[in-house]
Amino acid sequence: MSKELLKIENLKTYFDTWAGVVKAVDGISLEVEEGETLGLVGESGSGKTVTALSVLRIVPRPGKIVDGRILYRGENLLEKKENEMQKIRGKEIAYIFQDPATSLNPVFSIASQLIEVIRRHQNVGKQEAIEKAIELLRLVEIPDPKIRIRDYPHQLSGGMKQRMAVARALSCQPSLLLADEPTTNLDVTIQAQILGLMKNLKKKLGMSMVLITHDMGIVADMADRITVLYAGRVCESASTITIFYSPMHPYTEALLTAVPHLAIKREKLAVIPGTIPNLIEPPSGCRFHPRCKYARATCSEIVPPLEEIEPEHYVACLRAKEIAIRSPLES
Ligand SMILES: Nc1ncnc2c1ncn2[C@@H]1O[C@H](COP(=O)(O)OP(=O)(O)O)[C@@H](O)[C@H]1O
Ligand code: SF4
Ligand SMILES: [Mg+2]
Repeated sequence: MSKELLKIENLKTYFDTWAGVVKAVDGISLEVEEGETLGLVGESGSGKTVTALSVLRIVPRPGKIVDGRILYRGENLLEKKENEMQKIRGKEIAYIFQDPATSLNPVFSIASQLIEVIRRHQNVGKQEAIEKAIELLRLVEIPDPKIRIRDYPHQLSGGMKQRMAVARALSCQPSLLLADEPTTNLDVTIQAQILGLMKNLKKKLGMSMVLITHDMGIVADMADRITVLYAGRVCESASTITIFYSPMHPYTEALLTAVPHLAIKREKLAVIPGTIPNLIEPPSGCRFHPRCKYARATCSEIVPPLEEIEPEHYVACLRAKEIAIRSPLES
């Protein structure tokens, strides 16, 4: 049995806004085992980023974690004092932001940013920190690290900035990396390079990773297991193979149907009809019911619980057992 590193139980993170309470994360549970990559997928607005920010307890105001437990190595992070959390952020759990520009400070050189993180968490002198920083740039395959380390963020290309963000995240050898759409704004070739790099580093450093993306193609290639979110709740959670070849939730099916290279095979690109619901007054019962082609009257009345339908395969759909979805990949 593999060991579980992170376990989120029934997490609820709400934003109390002037328009009402936005239930961004509304009862999410998931697990990350040691050494594995969990893909966290779902359309924009499904609560992926807020889940990751909740783990680090850096949800911006007016957001607030209102319920649940976040167990890291068996200890509830929601019960930690702020100074304990500061030790965990970066050193145990690192975060790569969606937009590297947000995580890099434009005013400071690459060198000083890396050195600052290294010295904050490790008891080393300046010279040693510089050497460690150069080593990190080498690790993320930035060419001429001794020269590039003097650069400022604006001197780097998008791909180099993201390599730099990876270096920064890895600087204290975290056990868990939360990578939030790390390649979304990069072109396809650079994206593949960065993902390849992250995959290698994960293996080399023995980390676990939560890879957040709306792109099913990326998780197919990177993740061991996948948790699918919809409107702040988990729809389905299983191994990557199971999600792609034997999905049981209608929303997972819809996501797979919308994957371009899978769709091209069938000569049509499906778009999931409708839009992500308003999270102030979400649809009753199953939140996916207004968009679900299998919906019945009960679907708007009963909230489907997340059930283990077969070993290690969790599904939150009232009709999961009767609808017998065929994977769009098997056509
Ligand atoms: N600062 C905020 N104030 C109000 N609502 C927010 C705020 N940040 C996020 N949300 C809401 O939380 C929901 C989930 O957002 P997010 O986690 O960023 O989605 P994802 O990362 O899956 O695209 C969205 O409906 C979004 O509008
Ligand atoms: S519970 Fe009903 S509406 Fe929700 S996914 Fe299942 S069939 Fe569709
Ligand atoms: Mg996001």
